[in-house]
Amino acid sequence: MAGMNRQIRLKSRPAGTPTTASFEAVDAPTPAPAAGEVLRRTLYLSLDPYMRGRMSDAPSYAQPVNLGEVMCGHTVSEVVESRDPAFRPGDIVAGYDGWQQYASGPGKDLRKLDPSGPPVSTALGVLGMPGFTAYVGLHDIGRPRAGETVVVSAASGAVGSVVGQLATIAGCRAVGVAGSREKCRFVVDELGFQACVNYKTDDLAAALKEACPAGVDVYFDNVGGAVFAAVLRIINRGARIPLCGMISEYNATEHPAGPNLRPLLVNRATIKGFIVSDHYDRFGAFLGEVTPLVRDGRLKFREDIVDGLDAAPAALIGLFEGRNFGKMLVRVSDSGR
Ligand SMILES: NC(=O)c1ccc[n+]([C@@H]2O[C@H](COP(=O)([O-])OP(=O)(O)OC[C@H]3O[C@@H](n4cnc5c(N)ncnc54)[C@H](OP(=O)(O)O)[C@@H]3O)[C@@H](O)[C@H]2O)c1
Repeated sequence: MAGMNRQIRLKSRPAGTPTTASFEAVDAPTPAPAAGEVLRRTLYLSLDPYMRGRMSDAPSYAQPVNLGEVMCGHTVSEVVESRDPAFRPGDIVAGYDGWQQYASGPGKDLRKLDPSGPPVSTALGVLGMPGFTAYVGLHDIGRPRAGETVVVSAASGAVGSVVGQLATIAGCRAVGVAGSREKCRFVVDELGFQACVNYKTDDLAAALKEACPAGVDVYFDNVGGAVFAAVLRIINRGARIPLCGMISEYNATEHPAGPNLRPLLVNRATIKGFIVSDHYDRFGAFLGEVTPLVRDGRLKFREDIVDGLDAAPAALIGLFEGRNFGKMLVRVSDSGR
């Protein structure tokens, strides 16, 4: 297939907060599928906080994106041409094609989606990596029991929104922490959390105490920093803390001062970091459990969609300023159908 393939590549490694100058847009030739390969056009690209780590060459759990390489990312695409008998033009697939309009590669790297199910974009959010992260961290490490209080930060976002709803379904009191009044209202009124604290305007310690009169049994940490430190002060004996993310620190150039860990000791609390990619053997079980909840409207999701690949750099940067409201996606192209 002739034609151009718009790509966004990593141009330079940012120090501190990235700017759009870290990226460069390039029009490359559209690849031709080799034997056994599938050529697909990207419909949606997922933007996720972990991408900040891939822009850096500091040692981490995953390889960085090389300078000049296409930025990585989960995608939902439409098959354009297939040299793999398992796929046909028009099939909708989830993959990891990165920030580009077209990609070609082996069909084994793709997962077929059912277009008659929930919107295919959910394969990047509530029914994709972020939703699965919430499921694994909450169930394996949080182990919430009915009647307990579960606090989650970045509560209106892709991971946090699912954590709180799964906690509510498990019979817990779900308390969110989010960065605006509008986000807090959404978390309580739309998602059904019992309370939400605005960490930007509320007196954090006092508001958390009021929202969690029986203390905190599970704290699902997405942000680290001041919110983490404040929640630690009211954790209960035997509390569990899934350490999922530390977005408040991803752009830091100096190692921030650590929180006071004494409450962990005196309350015999458990804290455990986890990386979702270690758990994909259970992705099928997750989809089996959570897809019906989404289909029936018992688990709600919100997407924040920008149009066109060129909008991706600014939208990624916005994640670190709380500019997104819901799962951050780029609509790269419309389905040809
Ligand atoms: N361990 C894993 O395998 C794994 C997998 C997926 C995601 N994660 C982590 O989970 C967390 C949430 O990811 P997500 O995809 O669901 O993102 P998200 O919540 O949809 O978007 C990021 C949100 O983080 C909040 N935020 C940004 N800067 C902040 C700061 N300085 N202090 C406090 N909050 C801040 C903002 O919400 P507010 O406006 O509410 O501040 C922003 O909207 C991230 O830390 C991510 O790295 C970990």
